[in-house]
Amino acid sequence: MLSPTGPEVRRVRPDELLPWLETLTTTFLERPDIAKIAEQLGPYWDFTRLWGAFDGRVVGTLRTWATELTVPGGAFVPSTGVSAVTVMATHRRRGLLRRMIAAEHDAARERGEAIAILYASEAPIYGRFGYGTGVTSCAWTLDTRSTGFVSEPVGNVTIASIDDALVGLIRDLYDRYRRQRVGEVRRRDFTFGMDVGLVEIAWETPWKGWVAVHRDAAGEADGFARYTADQKWEHHQPRSVVKVQDFVALNDRAYDALWRFLADLDLVATIRAERRSPYERLPWLLTNRRAIEPDDIGDGLWVALLDVPAALAARTYERPGDLVIDVVDAEPGSGRTRVRLESGPDGSACAITTRDADLTVHADALGAAYLGGTPLRHAALARGFEEHRPGALSDADAIFRTIDQPSCTTFF
Ligand SMILES: CC(C)(COP(=O)(O)OP(=O)(O)OC[C@H]1O[C@@H](n2cnc3c(N)ncnc32)[C@H](O)[C@@H]1OP(=O)(O)O)[C@@H](O)C(=O)NCCC(=O)NCCS
Repeated sequence: MLSPTGPEVRRVRPDELLPWLETLTTTFLERPDIAKIAEQLGPYWDFTRLWGAFDGRVVGTLRTWATELTVPGGAFVPSTGVSAVTVMATHRRRGLLRRMIAAEHDAARERGEAIAILYASEAPIYGRFGYGTGVTSCAWTLDTRSTGFVSEPVGNVTIASIDDALVGLIRDLYDRYRRQRVGEVRRRDFTFGMDVGLVEIAWETPWKGWVAVHRDAAGEADGFARYTADQKWEHHQPRSVVKVQDFVALNDRAYDALWRFLADLDLVATIRAERRSPYERLPWLLTNRRAIEPDDIGDGLWVALLDVPAALAARTYERPGDLVIDVVDAEPGSGRTRVRLESGPDGSACAITTRDADLTVHADALGAAYLGGTPLRHAALARGFEEHRPGALSDADAIFRTIDQPSCTTFF
């Protein structure tokens, strides 16, 4: 039975972790060893970021982690990464997710996190909470037998030993990489050991694979590819499939050489890399561009602006402009946030204003456009908007867009 006021939404205590995990894994249709997960991951989790809905038992879950998002212009904005969102089948559609996410958004604002990010299991869920698709992602499938490469690799590639030194190396390379890529996020330190199978977590089959490291002419590591393989034979011919879990290159030479290395692996017919950007340069490395195909193109990282003026002021804009935007807030009853954005390539200013608005858009449309890759025009037309000055939507669309497309390879 529900209590008259409905389930309580509050932070989870450490001694409630097991039932919280039980609800989470049941709703995600998984049956891992939750006692082990609690023992392995509990010490890494910040319990002020673990939310639950309680109705005599745990009936809803939501967890976040502290990260930074790289935004146009190169700033790293403190952000909250939302995951583990579930509501028990017996308690759905009664507003529990809405209550948990509102509680976390308030807490994030108090912590000074201007942005919330997540991956969505289903596309219709999160727009109503202010999230829009900020990064489009895809999977690349390369048929290695039907193409060559247009240039010779520079530097050298070695297969690293899987040890603590490698963990430190990939952590460092990834961290340098995410600082130069709009849409990438800071990963948690403990995840790198899990990535190479040195730290086992009962949630996932331990990774067993290889890490190829590229070094430049001076011997300095500047990229790596982390991959596994499925052995495959067809008609007595080797046709193995290499699956790339991480591909991190700090420069074009490392990018070219690592792809070349993977494509040249003996016994391999196919390379598949997921959570990549459809805009990356990969096809242009090949003598036959049809040998590589993007598929699974769709929403990657979703972005919500929890503090609109702070988030808009944190990025730069390729075009100068002066625009007053009325943002229809996602949370019911919270009204609108009217901001004046003075944009420019070298910096920007954004503050709450009482001036007349040029344009009214919904929070999720602005979240989608924020990283510069999703046209504000598309998101606003889909969601509804008001133009108070003719041409304001086109102006805003041009101001928000960037030449470089955002990408995010980190899944959580
Ligand atoms: C998605 C989930 C957490 C929603 O929880 P919930 O408590 O039912 O959500 P709420 O009742 O707070 O819903 C708020 C709004 O979102 C809508 N909504 C929620 N889930 C939706 C879905 N999957 N598709 C479409 N709309 C959805 C509700 O209809 C409601 O709309 P309204 O405000 O216009 O009435 C729950 O269905 C679930 O656990 N699903 C399985 C696990 C999962 O997919 N989790 C998300 C991981 S990213």
